[in-house]
Amino acid sequence: MTAEPLALYIHWPFCLAKCPYCDFNSHVRERIDQTRFAAALRRELAHEAEALGPRPLASIFFGGGTPSLMDPATTAALIEDATRFFQPVEGMEITLEANPTSVERQKLADFRAAGVNRLSLGVQSLDEKALRFLGREHSASQAIAALETARATFPRLSFDLIYARPGQAEAEWRAELRQALALAADHLSLYQLTIEPGTRFATEYARGAFRLPDEEEASRMYLATRDEAGLFGLLPYEISNYAKPGAESRHNLAYWRYGDYLGIGPGAHQRLLGPEGMLAIRRHRAPEPWAELVERQGHGTAGEERLTPEERGREAMLMGLRLTEGVDPARIAQRAGLPFEAIVDQGMLEALAEEGYLATSPDGRLIATDEGRLRLDALLPALLR
Ligand SMILES: C[S@@+](CC[C@H](N)C(=O)[O-])C[C@H]1O[C@@H](n2cnc3c(N)ncnc32)[C@H](O)[C@@H]1O
Ligand code: SF4
Repeated sequence: MTAEPLALYIHWPFCLAKCPYCDFNSHVRERIDQTRFAAALRRELAHEAEALGPRPLASIFFGGGTPSLMDPATTAALIEDATRFFQPVEGMEITLEANPTSVERQKLADFRAAGVNRLSLGVQSLDEKALRFLGREHSASQAIAALETARATFPRLSFDLIYARPGQAEAEWRAELRQALALAADHLSLYQLTIEPGTRFATEYARGAFRLPDEEEASRMYLATRDEAGLFGLLPYEISNYAKPGAESRHNLAYWRYGDYLGIGPGAHQRLLGPEGMLAIRRHRAPEPWAELVERQGHGTAGEERLTPEERGREAMLMGLRLTEGVDPARIAQRAGLPFEAIVDQGMLEALAEEGYLATSPDGRLIATDEGRLRLDALLPALLR
């Protein structure tokens, strides 16, 4: 078995404020102990690198939380460590997620100097009222200013928007999206607002404080999104991600194609396929206890398990069918360690294809159609054995 190039994820778990919709592993602290967390991240990375030995490295992704709150010297040190432990592939992608507040805008040049070559900016909306509803710490004009600085600073740039918000009609979303597309470079992440359990929005929604567009309206908005983005040459390559051909996020593609990835930092996940199967690791979620574990034993692992071939097949399908390119049955079988026929119910596959939810490409890939991708959650349990 030849080792695939690695994708490296590094989690920064802090934010200035908790957004009411967000269930990411993010925490607000009066003061962040930068020195302690920098040391712990570097130590956990060194621990994993030593266990793994030299491998090609295709991408690094600093996610959060809000990694733009990290001291850029920490970003630089982690990139340096990673490129020393592993062999960076030509044009290795290094992404950092950033918030568009003015403080962070001033740090962008330092992140670029640290080696970051792709910025992903959490704009969320270009409408002031919507930004207040979403509990954001920045205005639309600050977001636009950050976008302009980012465009001038980084070779690659993406930004996030959240649509299908309460009271938002398709026409309004089209107008906001057109404004965003005019500001876009070669990549956008466009998410429908989801109500995540345990968030402030979940409580407010249950109380009836606001309503969301119904399923039909949300589907129309999804299809409108594809049309508008297409006019600007941005094509959907995953349910919520749009890029000019060649500008797809290589790091995120590694997850969706069920590649090997390392996960460093609180709450991070890791998947590595080796001779003994697929090892899944998850780190302790709470930042300080995670740091204590790393300080004590070199890593903050909270759980480690060998996935069964069935679990691997399920995960690979779950990720892969999100992609416009769909899945290659031979690859799924290789990553799962099971024949494709043992993962997917062939009768159900044919039935779902007949109903227009699935299709097979001329080169034998299995693809979810637009209709199918909108209903993946319902489709997959039926499709998988
Ligand atoms: C880790 S955050 C990105 C970086 C940064 N913390 C920020 O907020 O700007 C990941 C992205 O997921 C999206 N997101 C998070 N929770 C969501 C939800 N409940 N519904 C829709 N999108 C959501 C947001 O667009 C957010 O930018
Ligand atoms: S959306 Fe971003 S800034 Fe807001 S709480 Fe989540 S991770 Fe933090």
